[in-house]
Amino acid sequence: MHITVIGSGYVGTTIAACFADLGHDVTAIDIDEEIVETLNDGKSPISEPGLDELLETHAGNRLKATTSYDAVPESDVTFLAIGTPSNDDGSIDLGALEAAAEATGEAVADKDERHLVVIKSTVTPPSIETVLEPAVHRGANENENIEVGMNPEFLREGSAVSDFLSPDKLVFGASSEWGTDRLHTVFEPLLEGHDTNVVETDPQTAAMIKYANNAFLASKISLVNDLGNICKEFDLDAYEVMDAIGLDDRISEQFLRSGVGWGGSCFPKDVNAIIAAAREEDYDPAVLEATVEVNDRQPERMLELLEDHVDLEGSRIAVLGLALPC
Ligand SMILES: NC(=O)c1ccc[n+]([C@@H]2O[C@H](COP(=O)([O-])OP(=O)(O)OC[C@H]3O[C@@H](n4cnc5c(N)ncnc54)[C@H](O)[C@@H]3O)[C@@H](O)[C@H]2O)c1
Repeated sequence: MHITVIGSGYVGTTIAACFADLGHDVTAIDIDEEIVETLNDGKSPISEPGLDELLETHAGNRLKATTSYDAVPESDVTFLAIGTPSNDDGSIDLGALEAAAEATGEAVADKDERHLVVIKSTVTPPSIETVLEPAVHRGANENENIEVGMNPEFLREGSAVSDFLSPDKLVFGASSEWGTDRLHTVFEPLLEGHDTNVVETDPQTAAMIKYANNAFLASKISLVNDLGNICKEFDLDAYEVMDAIGLDDRISEQFLRSGVGWGGSCFPKDVNAIIAAAREEDYDPAVLEATVEVNDRQPERMLELLEDHVDLEGSRIAVLGLALPC
């Protein structure tokens, strides 16, 4: 297959390199000339284990990068991996993604065959119908051959390549059987010989699965931190308590280590975005709001604990495991 990937940031570069490794011809498109040049030199603009090797192998062969959308109509399917940063109220800024969606539509406006435009970016369910599908169709002059799908990405920074190539699940959000089949064809080389769960659904549900996934994990961490704080008050070992509850299959042993809280490029952005989207519908997501509140308080709690053990005045402190806030 020939796949175009629009946006060559964290997600776009990873999936473009991995699609090439799965045997597809890939055109990676970005407006940033420096990124395009780096990719064509076989180097990675981001640091991820295994990514340099994939780019070294496939750049100039199965993977080409460009700033032009010319390859889009020649391709079989297009993935949009454009950033969706947070606004001040927690909602996401769809501006760059909407512009790329419209430009993609324009590129395939005259196409006689069907073309699937797949949203890889994390977007709220209503925005697919209200913003993104209309942008693609507007660009494509309402060409009925163009369909919009959703295939959320669950990769973690630090293990992006292996997460993409060995996923727990794949979520195919399409509005027709043809769209679902096309996504199966894209991922066929990855599914062959692997026992991977595939969820077939509509684009809006696919978008919600991504938010529900991250909201659930963030809430689990906040709950564990809350329980860990209570353990400390009782002078009990929180790790011993968590190890025991992790033996319950319904809870699982993952994400049970109390600590400073969650951060990184996705959890804060995604939890705040789904809270903002729920409020838009006049729903008050009380558990998710508490999840954020506990997380905001947790660094202070760490400092209080530290003060119990060391005199902070003039101390040199090493911090392990830093994640960037979004
Ligand atoms: N970073 C992660 O770990 C992760 C994981 C899963 C999902 N996501 C989601 O995936 C999406 C992309 O995230 P990212 O971290 O890769 O973003 P990013 O900011 O690293 O990359 C976006 C890229 O898009 C390019 N771009 C912007 N407008 C363009 C246009 N019109 N045409 C072509 N290229 C354009 C930018 O130059 C940039 O290189 C977001 O919605 C994010 O929430 C991210």
